[in-house]
Formats: sequence, structure tokens, C-alpha cells
Amino acid sequence: MPHVFVTRRLPGRAVEQLRKAGHTVDVWEGELPPPPAELRARSLAADAVLALLTDRFDADLLEQASRLRIVANMAVGFDNIDPRVAADRGIWVTNTPGVLAETTADFAFALLLAAARNVVSSDRDTRAGGWKTWSPTAFLGPDVHRATLGIVGMGGIGQAVARRARGFEMRLLYTSRTRKPALERSLDIEWCTLESLLAGADFVSLHVPLSAETHHLIGARELALMQPSAILVNTARGQVVDQEALVDALRRGQLAGAALDVTDPEPLPLDHPLFSLPNVVITPHIASGSLATRARMAEMAAANIIAVLAGQKPPNPVNLVNNMHM
Ligand code: NAP
Ligand code: GLV
Repeated sequence: MPHVFVTRRLPGRAVEQLRKAGHTVDVWEGELPPPPAELRARSLAADAVLALLTDRFDADLLEQASRLRIVANMAVGFDNIDPRVAADRGIWVTNTPGVLAETTADFAFALLLAAARNVVSSDRDTRAGGWKTWSPTAFLGPDVHRATLGIVGMGGIGQAVARRARGFEMRLLYTSRTRKPALERSLDIEWCTLESLLAGADFVSLHVPLSAETHHLIGARELALMQPSAILVNTARGQVVDQEALVDALRRGQLAGAALDVTDPEPLPLDHPLFSLPNVVITPHIASGSLATRARMAEMAAANIIAVLAGQKPPNPVNLVNNMHM
């Protein structure tokens, strides 16, 4: 019987589906991810791993995993896995594209609104007894409607954010690896360079995957281009932003605030300077976290495993495996 290692308890029917397909399933029951030695030992004993973005599958681990046929990541991002080394070893790597785009875009918008309109800081102040009267000057922020939003990375989530922004009558700038004329017409979005986007936007929302090209895409130079009234929203990956440069820019007033669902590292240590800045909203990497979407992501990862263990090409590969172990 093929053996599957699932690296955490999952919502939805994914584990049930794996068992129904005839696989034995080992679920890591800890609240925290399996420590590296456990991840290694259990992955080496498995035909398939249903992994989370907190599990690192580097060259060292993949090169030893002679039994492994697939690492199915329960995430659209797969920067925790080396897909090239996996392909060389005949191991499929899969992700969960599309299914989380709308939910993640909802959250990016929630962060944007929260940062602009002081939702978190005013809640904190109210609980501490700060609400004495209706004030004409307290917690004032910029309008979101009819402001300019810059979207960096016009993929599934970037497009879903753009659709939401239309309802707020925002002007939309975007930059991406490739220009998208059809989307420019259908979503009424304007292509520009990263530099002009940063200079022209009231809000900047990041939606690129983490790669060698996007690591620290937003650094000191880029932050200095932003308007002093602008707000940066990051639901992509923490390492897309140079976090030290962000702290520095926020302290200098080069931008007005930031809303971060992702940080570098995760979790962010409680003594990190970002926590001392009042104009920063930080959430614990939960943008895809609706009940329905997390269940669908897990079931999608399970479907990829079931396909590969049945000798088929998985529906959502991010690498190409010639030797399919059939
Ligand atoms: P996607 O559909 O693959 O879109 C990514 C977009 O980024 C693509 O349109 C791509 O450009 C663009 N891009 C890639 N490299 C680029 C570069 N060097 N410069 C400029 N643009 C570049 O992925 P998605 O589903 O929208 O997800 C995006 C990322 O969000 C994921 O990789 C993940 O890291 C993150 N995410 C986070 C959460 C969360 O819970 N916080 C949830 C889901 C996803 P082209 O199309 O122009 O080639
Ligand atoms: C979450 O961060 C994902 O990449 O799906």
C-alpha cells in the first residue's frame, strides 16, 4: 500500500480521500510543524508528502528521498521546495493555484482598508478606554474609494484584487513580468514600470511569488519612491520586501503605513521593531484562511497525490518529471 505523510492536521476531507484511494496515511498531530529531523525521517519513509509552506524540502532532503514520488504543497506558493532538484530525482511538486485567489484578495482588501482607516489601532485604543467622545480629529485616514491602487504581480490574486478595487472606483496601475493587454481592457488597469507605480500609487499591494528575481523587490530605493501618504500591503511573501529597509522608511515617514500578512521570518519575533510601529498592521499569514478555501486547498493537494500514486500526471504540477515512476 502506498504511504502518505501529511505534515499537519487538515480541514476538509483530504485525509479521508487519501485513505479511500487505498493509501496508508501518517498525519503529524503536532500544533507546530514537524521538526526537521521528523520531517526528514517521515518523508523518507513515504511515497507522497502532503506538505505545508512551513515544511522545507531542500536539495539535501530531496536527494535522499529515494521512495518519494510527489510533494503536494497545500499552497499556491512553493518557495519552500526546490522543484528543479525534485524533478531531477523524479519527484513531482504540485501546488494549489486559483482556488485561493478570491479568498486571498478579500483579505488583501481587508488589510488595505484596516490600515487606511485605522481599524486595528482604533480598536486597540477603544479597548484601553480611549473613546471619550466623538472626535472630529481622531483616527483620520485617507479615503480608499477613488484612490490609486498599484498592483505588483497581475496573476490570479492580483486580478481578484483589481476586480474588488473596481467597486471602490479606484484608479488601477499594475506591473508584472509580462504585459496583459486583454486584462488592461477588461479590468481597466494601466501598465507601468515598478518605479512609476510606486511613485503614483496611494496603495501598493504585492502579489508576486517569492523567487530569486522578487527577493527584496521592494527595498530602500523602491520605498523612497513611494508617496509619504502611501500604504504598502503585503500578502505575497515576507522576503519580497527588505524588512529592515521598511522599518527605516516607516520611521522616516517615507510612507504612511504597512499592512503585512507575511513577514521575514515567520513568526515575527515579538521584539521585532515592526511591532513597535503604530502604523503597521500584522496578521499571521492567514490571507487564504476561509474555512471553505482551506478545505479545498487540502483536497486539491490530496487529488494531486492520488493522481501521481495512480501513475498519472498530477493536475497542478510546478515541475516536469520525465520518469513518472509508473
Ligand atoms: P500567480 O497566479 O502565479 O501570479 C503571480 C504573478 O506574479 C504572475 O502574474 C507573474 O507574472 C507575476 N510575477 C512573477 N514573477 C515576477 C517578477 N519577477 N516581476 C513581476 N511580476 C512577477 O500566483 P497567485 O496565485 O496570484 O499568488 C501570488 C503569490 O501570493 C503566491 O506565490 C504566494 O507567495 C502568495 N500567496 C500568499 C497567500 C497568503 O496567505 N498570504 C495566499 C496565497 C498566495 P506574469 O503573469 O506577468 O508572468
Ligand atoms: C499561501 O501563502 C500560499 O502560497 O498559498
